[in-house]
Formats: sequence, structure tokens, C-alpha cells
Amino acid sequence: MPTWRLRDFRDDDLDRAIQIWDQDRQTDDSPPVFPVSEVMAVARVGGPAVVAVVGDDLVGMAVAQAQGERAWITLVALAGNWRSRGIGSALIAELERRLRPQGIRRIGALLAPGATGTAALENSGYRARDGLVFYEKVEHLGASDAGLLAELGGRVQPVGLWAALAGMEREKETIERRIVLPLAEPALADRYGVAPPKAVILFGPPGTGKTSFARAVASRLEWPFVELFPSRLAAGSAGGLAASLRDTFHELAGLETVLLFIDEVEEIAGVRSGVAVDPGHGVTNELLKLIPGFRDHDDRLLICATNSVRSLDPAFLRPGRFDYVIPVGPPDAAAREAIWRRYLGRAADGVGLHRLVEASEMFTPADIEFAARKGAQAAFEREITDRQGTPADTEDYLAAIADTRPSLTEQALTEFREDIEHHIRM
Ligand SMILES: Nc1ncnc2c1ncn2[C@@H]1O[C@H](COP(=O)(O)OP(=O)(O)O)[C@@H](O)[C@H]1O
Ligand SMILES: [Mg+2]
Repeated sequence: MPTWRLRDFRDDDLDRAIQIWDQDRQTDDSPPVFPVSEVMAVARVGGPAVVAVVGDDLVGMAVAQAQGERAWITLVALAGNWRSRGIGSALIAELERRLRPQGIRRIGALLAPGATGTAALENSGYRARDGLVFYEKVEHLGASDAGLLAELGGRVQPVGLWAALAGMEREKETIERRIVLPLAEPALADRYGVAPPKAVILFGPPGTGKTSFARAVASRLEWPFVELFPSRLAAGSAGGLAASLRDTFHELAGLETVLLFIDEVEEIAGVRSGVAVDPGHGVTNELLKLIPGFRDHDDRLLICATNSVRSLDPAFLRPGRFDYVIPVGPPDAAAREAIWRRYLGRAADGVGLHRLVEASEMFTPADIEFAARKGAQAAFEREITDRQGTPADTEDYLAAIADTRPSLTEQALTEFREDIEHHIRM
């Protein structure tokens, strides 16, 4: 067996180090306390940061960051086949040796339970402190933006929303290629003459994931997300709906980047009835006027969602306003399986998934989420009385399915297919 040795981290270790760290984290989907950019920035200025190598191959790395008398171990990563060989403990001992002359008296580490490094820390005399909660606030914005964003009720979305969307591969692929990537890689898009989208419509039956997709796009882009609620528009404004819409767009212009989401947009951009006193009329016109201004700026995206694309004002749908009109459809069998899996969690192993998939044919993702919870609840309640340790099984979930009214109807599916034929643009 070849043996390993320790040495200082060098700049050209960076790629391999990140690779090991990524592999290490595949089993753990919570984001690390110390993000990779931060850890590597510290490593490059002498951290201290040490690596373990076998020949020329990097197999482990540890980084610490000192502040006053305190240091944090911000990274312990080991290549898969080099775990449990004492490398972790050796890396930590080496970090300590380098920290000691700096007058460090306390060394801490924040890790997810069971993460790489846990065993090494325990073997090196570190004691786990129970009963603490890690609080964190991430500021993606300049200070001036943060205040404005709060005023607009906007929020930066948590990372990982995209990955949390199960199944729906077709929708994911379209939305990723047409929307996320051109906005995430504007220079590359520009080189290929691809104009990043400024405004898009998502349509489909209720509960298929339109709102979730909009949030997930914001999460992918790390853009602040502002939702505009048609029903709340009028409330604070003397000039009525149209004036309040105008005010909101005006305020949004003060944000550097923003994803603006308007759910159930048919409420403000429905077909104009032609009646002069029609309360929706003025606001439809107003929105039509505001979109070109919104489109003038980079780093802004408007996503409108609707259950009823056919009831939108045709002027609203005319090319030039929205770059894409994308269907978010009911989940097919593969998607339903992925969504069941997501919501069953550990229970998925003991369950006949294909039967659930079959029995939930007219279910939206939202229905599946609901039925999964219902099945788990029933099994839990049974266990409270029985205390037999029996997990939730297929029958529990089938009963929950039978007890859940599917959101999708033949009529809704027919309309959706017609809408695709008439309105899709992507
Ligand atoms: N692909 C998916 N995977 C897992 N859960 C989903 C998925 N799509 C939707 N959901 C869940 O279904 C519920 C309804 O989704 P939502 O995005 O509000 O649908 P819509 O906006 O189309 O009505 C949410 O709780 C969401 O978490
Ligand atoms: Mg919605």
C-alpha cells in the first residue's frame, strides 16, 4: 500500500481539492457552513491549509481560519478510498501545530452530523457541543438594496430549491436551457447571439409547480425574488390598481437585480371585457405599458404564472412582451415516481412505488405531497397505539391516495393540451 504524507497547500492544488470536496459532499445536500469560495480564498493566503498527498495525487485537505485567540477549522475533506486511515487526524494535528504559535486557544469546527472530519475531530480530542443552533444570514445584496428589498417583501431564496424539484425533467430542461443558463452565463450567451430572456410565462394546471419553478430559478441565479400579489395591489394605493402597479414597478427599478414573480397573472391581465367600468381593464393596460420599461434593463426577469393562459389578454401574449410561454404539465409516471420518492424519504425503500405511481395518475406534485404526508400520518397514529415498530407501508399510501381528490381532471388536461397547441412559445 502506498503511503501518504502532508505538505502545504499550493495554488495548483485548487482544482483537485475542490473535486475531492465535491465528491465528499454528494451524500450531504445541506450547503456547507463555510462555502468553497471562502475556504479556498483563506487557503490561498496561507490559512493555514495543509494537504495529504500520495505521490503527486492529492487525497485530503484541511483548512483553518484564525481570528484573535480563536480558530475555525473550515474544511476537512478526504478522497473516498482514503478515509479511516488516520489522514484526517494527521491533517488536524498539522493545522493545530501551525495555529499554536499564533496564540490560538480555542479551535472550533461546524459540521453536519456524520460529515467527513467528524471521526477525526473526535479522535483528536474535540468535544461535540450539544444544544447549540447555528444562525446565519446571507447578504447577497448591497446595503441599499437590502432595505428596498425588504420593503417590497422580497427575499433571497435559499440555495438548493432547484435540486429539490423532483422529476419534471422536460420542464426542468427547458427552463434551465432557455432561462437559467443564458442569465447565468451572459457573456457566453452574448458570444452566441443569444439574448437572455427578460420576461416569460409559465402556464399549466394548479399544483404542477409553477411557483416552485419560479423560486427555483431565483435560487439558481441567486437573485432576490419579489412576488407581486394581484389581490394585494390595490390595498395601499389611492390611485387604485393601476397606480399601485406602477408604483411597485417604479420601486423595483431601484434594485440591481431582481426576479419579479406575478402569480395568477390572469387576475390583472385577463381578457378585457370592453366594458368601460371593467376594473381589470386599466390595470391590464398599465401592465402592458410597464413591461417594455422592465425589459430595458439587464439582470431582471419577470416570470408570470397562470392556470388559464387562454383567458389572458391577446395583447399580453403578443411577441415582444414575453420571450417564452412555457407549459408546466402534469407529472408523467417517471416524474410521479421521483416526486413520491422525494416525499416518502426513507419510507420509499419499503414501499411498492410502482403501485403508488399507477394509483396517482391524475395527481399533481402538490397532490402527491399531500397524500404522502397523509399516509405517513396514518402510520404514525397507528404506531402511537400499537407500538409495534411497523413502518408506513404500501397500503397506508394507497389508502391515502384513495382519500385524496386528484386535482387533475380530463377537462383540465384537454384544455392544457389545447393551450399548448395555441400558446406555447419556447
Ligand atoms: N417537481 C416537484 N417536486 C416536488 N414537489 C413539488 C414539485 N412541484 C411542485 N411541488 C410541490 O407542490 C406544491 C405546489 O406547487 P406550486 O409550485 O405551488 O404549484 P403551482 O404554482 O403550479 O400551483 C408545492 O408545495 C411544491 O413543493
Ligand atoms: Mg402557484
